Amino acid sequence: MASIDVMSGSVGDGSASTAERGIEPTASARLLSTGSIWVDDSLVPAGRASVSAMDHGLVTGDGVFEAVEIRDGRTFALGRHLARMCRSAAGLGLTSPPVERVREAVGALLEAEPVDHGVLRITWTGGPGPLGSGRVQGKPTLVVAAAPVPLPPPTEEVWVVPWCRNEKGALTGLKTTSYAENVRSLAYARERGAGEALLANTVGHLCEGTGSNVFVVAKGDVLTPPLSSGCLAGITRELLREVFPAVLDCDMPLSALTEADEVFLTSTGRHVQAVAKVDGQVLPNAPGPVTRAAADAFARLRSVTDEP
Ligand SMILES: Cc1ncc(COP(=O)(O)O)c(C=O)c1O
Repeated sequence: MASIDVMSGSVGDGSASTAERGIEPTASARLLSTGSIWVDDSLVPAGRASVSAMDHGLVTGDGVFEAVEIRDGRTFALGRHLARMCRSAAGLGLTSPPVERVREAVGALLEAEPVDHGVLRITWTGGPGPLGSGRVQGKPTLVVAAAPVPLPPPTEEVWVVPWCRNEKGALTGLKTTSYAENVRSLAYARERGAGEALLANTVGHLCEGTGSNVFVVAKGDVLTPPLSSGCLAGITRELLREVFPAVLDCDMPLSALTEADEVFLTSTGRHVQAVAKVDGQVLPNAPGPVTRAAADAFARLRSVTDEP
């Protein structure tokens, strides 16, 4: 049966190795040769991990996912990520992920594949379906994979892309596998020497990054776009606001970025990260005192609990 290699996205019959298919030995590809991946109900060697070529998650992006931080071999804020995954699935009209089975899968994977610092990716799709948008109520697909990633650098450069987030779309605020707009936007930013792309929404207000939320420090206020701007309800955004309550929701024009005293990003992978340049323009403080205080508050939280 035709199948999709869940780490590389290549189609195969399970017999060809990564090297035989000529895939670059990236961190993910390296994981293929040595690691294990949970698919549906069991852990399988990564080189043999596959899902159906008819999976609706592949054919249409009909799926949801979470990226969870692994530190010292343990997950951080898994409970919040699973709760968001259930909300995303409900918003997409997918069957709710079986939270206990997902927890079991995560436990089994991290036991088999100890990762010091990395990312755990949980993907839940509509499962095999037709070659179009119509969904059949089939058996959903669950994939849980992990890979080591380095700790985030203290600063990042961002580039504002010419495309926008649709704050009124059917998928707004959901973490779905329809991420190609983010892929395109990040590639655009990287071509210009930046490490993250920022997007405005349809009315020109600052919204978010491809994989991060954005905060602006201006005249003593710490501001972040509201969820109504179309941004994802980031777990890091949410946690930071609990330990650093000075933050206010605020719709802002894009010019707020270059007029700001400080700008920072938050995400599972970045934690609290200062922005050093916007569209090539150097910002005066990176990290400035407010970003430092926010990063410290978040670091303190991370040091005292795995399940905030
Ligand atoms: C579009 C988008 N916005 C924001 C975030 C930040 O969310 P979190 O803090 O939960 O990682 C992400 C995370 O990947 C994202 O994909």
